[in-house]
Amino acid sequence: MTITRPDTRQRELRFPDGFVWGAATAAYQVEGAAAQDGRGPSIWDAFSHTPGNVANGDTGDVACDHYHRYADDVRLMAGLGLRAYRFSVSWPRVMPAGRGPVNAAGLDFYDRLVDELLGAGIAPYATLYHWDLPLALERTGGWAARDTAARFAEYAAIVHDRLGDRVAMWTTLNEPWLIAFLGYAWGIHAPGRTEPAAAFRAAHHLLLGHGLATTALRAGGARQVSLTFNLSPIEGPEEAARPVDGLMNRQFLEPALRGRYPADVLAIAERHGGLGHIRDGDLALIDQPIDVIGINYYNPSTVSLRPGAPANPAFPGTEGVHFEAATGPTTAMGWPIVPEALTALLLRLSREYPEAGLLVTENGAAFEDTPREGAVPDPDRVAYLDGHLRAAHAAIEAGADLRGYLVWSLLDNFEWHDGYRRRFGIVYVDFETQRRLPKDSALWYRDVIRRNGLPR
Ligand code: NOJ
Repeated sequence: MTITRPDTRQRELRFPDGFVWGAATAAYQVEGAAAQDGRGPSIWDAFSHTPGNVANGDTGDVACDHYHRYADDVRLMAGLGLRAYRFSVSWPRVMPAGRGPVNAAGLDFYDRLVDELLGAGIAPYATLYHWDLPLALERTGGWAARDTAARFAEYAAIVHDRLGDRVAMWTTLNEPWLIAFLGYAWGIHAPGRTEPAAAFRAAHHLLLGHGLATTALRAGGARQVSLTFNLSPIEGPEEAARPVDGLMNRQFLEPALRGRYPADVLAIAERHGGLGHIRDGDLALIDQPIDVIGINYYNPSTVSLRPGAPANPAFPGTEGVHFEAATGPTTAMGWPIVPEALTALLLRLSREYPEAGLLVTENGAAFEDTPREGAVPDPDRVAYLDGHLRAAHAAIEAGADLRGYLVWSLLDNFEWHDGYRRRFGIVYVDFETQRRLPKDSALWYRDVIRRNGLPR
């Protein structure tokens, strides 16, 4: 009798060779050392120190102390087999006042981090803006002021000058919609303003900042440039879904990749302060080719028409649109778990913007985690990640040029207005002792990386 071995390749859901497996964090969420070595204050320092803004009055003063523990953290990443680490550079650490003098000690930190990563065989992916605007720039208008875009490009050039020889991937902005509309319209994020007109101006100046920074990065010889969008598929009747998709998704994708604003978005912006801030030539400056579209995907949203309903404060101009509560399983954030929406999203992007590669720059979930005897069982997170990786794989099989996947997050960290009560890490952080403990999901992820795939 002949025993034929099963073809192991067929039993595996294999990812393409060279697929980039990694994890992400952001400066204010992990670094701590908020007042050390010349770092200036950011809008998030001011916001988190204002009572009532963040759960438990938490701040990023200490966070995961990554500023001091980065070398241990890189060892941890190496142990998990990560191929890329997406971190963000803190603008106020590099330029304490957002303009003018550079703080050498700040740049030195990122220089050390990058070298440590390279020494461990991990590609550095640097995001230039993950929400920590130097406070001095907010005092001159923040992103609602056009000048901030020019200052951002200057800062980008300075960081590139120092790290450009070693950074594998540059991301200009992280989630411009959230920056503009949670920060300037709804006010639940820094700087905490509730001025819809300022949010539309901020959106435009963020895009302009992206375009100018991209030009500066290219002039310096940057290899790969990307922009990370928060992309949420919007489900529901067309009349309700379209304006929300317009404000959240198309308002940013279309200018950055097609050099135009969608007409329906312009119509809403026009009713909220007018379009005077959009100057001739801006869209050409914004529309710089990018190598990769960065996708932060967590969940879709479902909307319905409800005449008379007030607009959601993050979506000015959407009166009569109601956001439905989740009906199926959710994470600790209350966000619905819908992996198949990631497949659809990736396919939509490859259909609409086939010229750019795709990279999942964030995907992950918060759950209640409790360490038990030196381990952290987190089956819900494993299931979430497993489901989303299968969804990503399905998109690849259907032709999407998806080049990598970065889990959010490496570490439990400062979850913005939720403070430390929401844990997204695949590594547990005991914030009393700063001890790191890989959760079961980290060990599971290590195995996924090792085999470059999942069992079918
Ligand atoms: C997206 C943001 O980029 C990140 O900073 C945040 O922690 C996660 N979403 C989870 O909310």
